[in-house]
Amino acid sequence: MTQKSFSSVFLASLKSARFVFVLTGAGMSAESGLPTFRGVDGYWQNHRVQDLASPQGFARDPLTVWRWYNERIRAYSGAQPNAGHYAPAQLEALVPDMTIATQTVDSLHARAGSKNVLELHGHLREARCTGCGVTLPLANGLDESLIDHSCGERFRPQVVWFGESLPQDVWSRAESAAARADVILVVGTSAQVYPAAALALQNDRAFIAEINPDATGLSDRCDCVIREGAAVALPAIVELLRL
Ligand code: OAD
Repeated sequence: MTQKSFSSVFLASLKSARFVFVLTGAGMSAESGLPTFRGVDGYWQNHRVQDLASPQGFARDPLTVWRWYNERIRAYSGAQPNAGHYAPAQLEALVPDMTIATQTVDSLHARAGSKNVLELHGHLREARCTGCGVTLPLANGLDESLIDHSCGERFRPQVVWFGESLPQDVWSRAESAAARADVILVVGTSAQVYPAAALALQNDRAFIAEINPDATGLSDRCDCVIREGAAVALPAIVELLRL
């Protein structure tokens, strides 16, 4: 992509920005070979959200839920960050204050070197006991024999499920970063899940740019839309900022 691929107002806004807020979703990791949720081969095409990503589904059938998460954990640990993950890590060095709020739970932003990452929907690096709160590291998933904890409750993935609140501290930090942003980049999310999607609309002063091959619920509210994959668009933007 060249300078002409981007709106000049967008590049100028980013160049002069003091505060940049980046909201990302599963599309961020598509070019690392990981499925999205609502895409053609997305998880929600052949799995039911309420069975796999809700407290009720877990209470009904913890083994099925853990089998699904274990598969994802193994896919994540076998995947590598793509150029789209490395670009925001480089952007952090170019702007005075940058925050990434991600809906992904694959840890690829951190593995690419980003420092200031808020994981809105938790992560899959550990399991937490629903009773006593003790945690277990999850390098290769959770052995099925360990699901039931000796305290009488069960281990669950350290993620946020539908119907649950986002971690308060993470949410407050994301809200204030979005509210002070001069530029907001919305990357690889269908923007269908709230409250995360609402972060993009936290302030009416910021220049909002969407990077996504397809239109989303936020496209009409954005100041510019870049219809490209994250691994192509984000490195091109960082390159242009360095000129
Ligand atoms: P979705 O699967 O809803 O959306 C993925 C988005 O990524 C779509 O808009 C795609 O067009 C876009 N996309 C695909 N390939 C891309 C690429 N190479 N570069 C950029 N964008 C690309 O995933 P999310 O919006 O992350 O929540 O979903 C939000 C939440 O819904 C998830 O965190 C998860 C899910 O249910 C929970 O499990 C709580």
